[in-house]
Amino acid sequence: MKKVLIAGATGWVGKELSKAIISSADYTLVGGLSRSNAGADLAHILGIDHAPIPLFDSIAKALESITFDILIDFTSPKIAMGNIVSAINSGKNIIVGTSGLSDEEYERIGSLADEKKVSVLAAGNFSITAVLLQRFSETAAKYINHFEIIDYASEKKVDAPSGTVAELAYRLSKVQKPTLDVTIEETIGVKETRGASINGIRVHAIRLPGHILGVETIFGMEDEKLTIKHEAGSGVAPYLKGIFIALNKINTFKGLKRGLDTIMDF
Ligand SMILES: NC(=O)c1ccc[n+]([C@@H]2O[C@H](COP(=O)([O-])OP(=O)(O)OC[C@H]3O[C@@H](n4cnc5c(N)ncnc54)[C@H](OP(=O)(O)O)[C@@H]3O)[C@@H](O)[C@H]2O)c1
Repeated sequence: MKKVLIAGATGWVGKELSKAIISSADYTLVGGLSRSNAGADLAHILGIDHAPIPLFDSIAKALESITFDILIDFTSPKIAMGNIVSAINSGKNIIVGTSGLSDEEYERIGSLADEKKVSVLAAGNFSITAVLLQRFSETAAKYINHFEIIDYASEKKVDAPSGTVAELAYRLSKVQKPTLDVTIEETIGVKETRGASINGIRVHAIRLPGHILGVETIFGMEDEKLTIKHEAGSGVAPYLKGIFIALNKINTFKGLKRGLDTIMDF
């Protein structure tokens, strides 16, 4: 049984992921990170009948106190980088779900993972249907050089673009940079209405009540258009499936891989 530590074990994703790992046959949950519940028993917080699972307020304390094989991080971009670097330096494999880390941070994570010969799988979205949106969008971007992205989320989401959209923009930029027939500089009026450039791709973030998480890639060609859209519901179930794919594959490569599809069969 591989031993797992979840950073963010008391969060929206972390709680359901903790329960799923506890019920799995192949993995055991040996601890969690949470500032507000440090010192408490995660099993008690989850309301399940289980031996105590310790919660720590920092990865340093977890590394001193318990042994684990895999760190899964679902915290916030402010804390995730420190967790990841400490875990890599301690030879642990890592699954990163936290959104908002920059490309520069990922470059550093990649170099460190290569140096320490550990595996890091980072995905802005662990939902399999969101991964299909990425794949279909990449295929379309090979043939169509005019495209933009819309990022939908609730009014409470603090980071923009979402991790899903940041990853999608990064990946589409590797296929090709879209053409802007009227550049931003040439735009007359309010230039910001053209959105922000993320890796050379125009992204428009909508933050409104009633919206959960969605992403839309819009392609345009002369006299025709194509829209590829993914919308998540309000539950955690879609992410859990993808995280278990990552857990089962994390030992099959070394270094950093970005995107769940990099370890899926297509
Ligand atoms: N990749 C995907 O498929 C996917 C899916 C959903 C969400 N996400 C991303 O995953 C992240 C977490 O989402 P969520 O909705 O679960 O967030 P959440 O409900 O706010 O939970 C965050 C968790 O992290 C802990 N935490 C935050 N700062 C910490 C710190 N400094 N030290 C220790 N623990 C800390 C929190 O506990 P304390 O407050 O007690 O510290 C809590 O347990 C976000 O970046 C979100 O965008 C990714």
